[in-house]
Amino acid sequence: MAKKQPAKIGFLCGSLREGSINQKLSKAIQKKAKDKGLKTGEINLETYDLPIYHGDLKTPAGVKKLIKRMKSFDGVVIITPEYNGGLPPVLKNAIDWTSTVETGHINGCVYGIAACTPGPMSGIMVMRELQFLLMRLGADLVPTQTGCGGASKAFDKKGQLVAEPAATFADKMLDQMIARIKAKR
Ligand SMILES: Cc1cc2nc3c(=O)[nH]c(=O)nc-3n(C[C@H](O)[C@H](O)[C@H](O)COP(=O)(O)O)c2cc1C
Repeated sequence: MAKKQPAKIGFLCGSLREGSINQKLSKAIQKKAKDKGLKTGEINLETYDLPIYHGDLKTPAGVKKLIKRMKSFDGVVIITPEYNGGLPPVLKNAIDWTSTVETGHINGCVYGIAACTPGPMSGIMVMRELQFLLMRLGADLVPTQTGCGGASKAFDKKGQLVAEPAATFADKMLDQMIARIKAKR
């Protein structure tokens, strides 16, 4: 019998900023995922050219492309900055746009959530908001979230996540995603 392909995990970051600490966290979790034998890929919101949603706009082509890309993964990790205790507009806008077309890319994938902040609070408020949004759209979301505070000391020179409890959270989150993906196959 043919061996099953390794699970594919997409990484979608809510910050497009050069030097973003959330991009840094995304890369560090991707490294952990690869070490666990997973296939990884980026879902880069910058490439889909999404205007701010309002109801009179025609759906831009990028929305369907983004949905297709998200559906190409068994699981998706969303890594997000916290803006005033909530979601950054880039991320909320992308999720809202896609939800006007369908929700198969949300309810058909296993999801993990992560956030990185300069201060110690690790994005607990934005992770709660993202959890609510994803659950509302029917996501299969794993319970462990990778909150990473104190970003300036969280990574080593190679960009690996060394801060605790964030590093343990990342491992647990990925292990839970692997188990759920396996159970679905
Ligand atoms: C509009 C705005 C609101 C912010 N609100 C919060 C906040 O509520 N909590 C927090 O920890 N950091 C907050 N920050 C600081 C961000 O965590 C910080 O800028 C971080 O570097 C953004 O993530 P990035 O580096 O991945 O772009 C805020 C930043 C901006 C620009």
